[in-house]
Amino acid sequence: MKILVINGPNLNMLGIREPDVYGKTSYGQLCADIEAHAAARGVEVELYQSNHEGDLVDKIQQAYGAVDGIVINPAAYTHTSVALLDALKAVGIPAVEVHITDVSRREAFRQVSYVREYCEMTISGHGFAGYMEAMDHLIQRMEDVR
Ligand code: DQA
Repeated sequence: MKILVINGPNLNMLGIREPDVYGKTSYGQLCADIEAHAAARGVEVELYQSNHEGDLVDKIQQAYGAVDGIVINPAAYTHTSVALLDALKAVGIPAVEVHITDVSRREAFRQVSYVREYCEMTISGHGFAGYMEAMDHLIQRMEDVR
């Protein structure tokens, strides 16, 4: 069982970026937490971060036939990208949308999510723990269909 965890623009700046909003913990630490969780749950995980929409589309396309589930925090592209939604629909891999902050309590322009239409679940405002919850959902789902 393999899970791909995708992070969009500026999430590589976690720890530096608006610490009052996103916290003081680094992207490297997030990756370490995700890898430790995957190891504890006995699943393979691949981490990918890009600031470029097309690269994120390419990564989703490359996941076709190669991964069982996708955890995606599209960051700002959440609110703008039909291309990411279309890529997820194209590959048809079960996916969960994650946001570190509670986007429902933030600016009006953050209230739209294009990928939400495809994702099985959205986890918003649970901090880094949201990524682990998303992985657990995908693992449970895969165990259920076995
Ligand atoms: C975010 C929320 C987005 O609105 C924002 O553009 C981000 C991060 C989050 O994880 O809370 O970059 O996806």
